[in-house]
Amino acid sequence: MEVGWTSRRWCLLLLLLAQAVVLTRPCPQRCTCHPLAVLGMSGADCASKSLVAVPRARGGEKHLQVVDLSGNRLRSLPDDAFAAFPSLKYLFLSDNMIQVVNQYAFRGVPELEVLYLSENSLTSLPPDLFEECVALRKVVLRGNPLLRLLPPAPPPPPGAPASPARLAPFITSHSLQELDASACGVDFIPNEAFSALPSLKKLNLSSNSLTEVDPRPFGPLCSLAHLDITGNPIQCGCSTARLSRWIRERRVETARPLACSGGTRRGEVLVDENEEEKMSQSVSPRCDMLLLKEEKFYTACQAALAEAEELQRQAVETKRSWIIGGIVALGVAVAVLIVACFFRRHRQKKRLREERAARAAAKEKNGLDHQPLRDDADG
Ligand SMILES: *[C@@H]1O[C@H](CO)[C@@H](O)[C@H](O)[C@H]1NC(C)=O
Repeated sequence: MEVGWTSRRWCLLLLLLAQAVVLTRPCPQRCTCHPLAVLGMSGADCASKSLVAVPRARGGEKHLQVVDLSGNRLRSLPDDAFAAFPSLKYLFLSDNMIQVVNQYAFRGVPELEVLYLSENSLTSLPPDLFEECVALRKVVLRGNPLLRLLPPAPPPPPGAPASPARLAPFITSHSLQELDASACGVDFIPNEAFSALPSLKKLNLSSNSLTEVDPRPFGPLCSLAHLDITGNPIQCGCSTARLSRWIRERRVETARPLACSGGTRRGEVLVDENEEEKMSQSVSPRCDMLLLKEEKFYTACQAALAEAEELQRQAVETKRSWIIGGIVALGVAVAVLIVACFFRRHRQKKRLREERAARAAAKEKNGLDHQPLRDDADG
């Protein structure tokens, strides 16, 4: 009875102590930290606090996996903005006023998986922004009304006129699977925009201002399975005919059947195979429906993916062989130690035996030496 009561008291005390430790884990200034019921992660809620900068860490926020900074007044993301949160997986920056993102803004967060930058004022993103984010899966840019799918032009040398937009990917990421650039005022897709997103499965370009969508920029997206281009004023014509064919050949799922307007027809036209043929012939010279370039980029993308997979497989194998090597080395070391111990004991025993024998011999010799003396004495 007495014992039960004491152990219960101890349990309670321990529980309180554990809770105190959890509660006093550091949390960025002006945020509240708590474990998230849904994701089973620890998160910092810094939403709608009128923050103008990423809150300063108190040190020790290394466990935070979710940081919600939405609905604040951030205007820019400086280099290493989130380096105090190295375990960060989910980052919510929606509904701020972000215009500038520095190239190394996401340095030090290699585990970042999901990034919300919707409802901001971005016009472009630095080309290598996600270089370190090897686990990045999803980026949401919805509602940045002035976004261009182009990397920013480098500043022109003094005196020179501004250089034309560079032909370069809009975003580079080997891991990215989902990109939402809907409602961004996009009216043009450069051919290189999506040339460095080999794992992209889902692309949302809905509610933009696209009038012409050629399949050429989608050519390098060899993982694409879903495309949403609804809510764009797409005109009927050669590009649309080509896009329709490409979507069909690649078996890409669209949010709605492809439709266009304008041209010789009135109202909205659903583009089926029949319409596609008509549209391709209605222009002069006749529309090139072979999609050879798209095919070429598709193959290149697949090759790049296969190469990346091979590299990963090799890395895993190397790691495995290192582990096996380590285990073998450990085994050998243990065996050597056992053998050494055995020999040592063996030698010790031998020495003891020898010593004992020597002592015995000495005793015997002593006895012999003294014998005559005693004999003499006796005699
Ligand atoms: C694309 O984004 C819009 C919001 O901007 C959303 O309503 C729509 O469902 C998205 N499409 C897909 C296929 O997720």
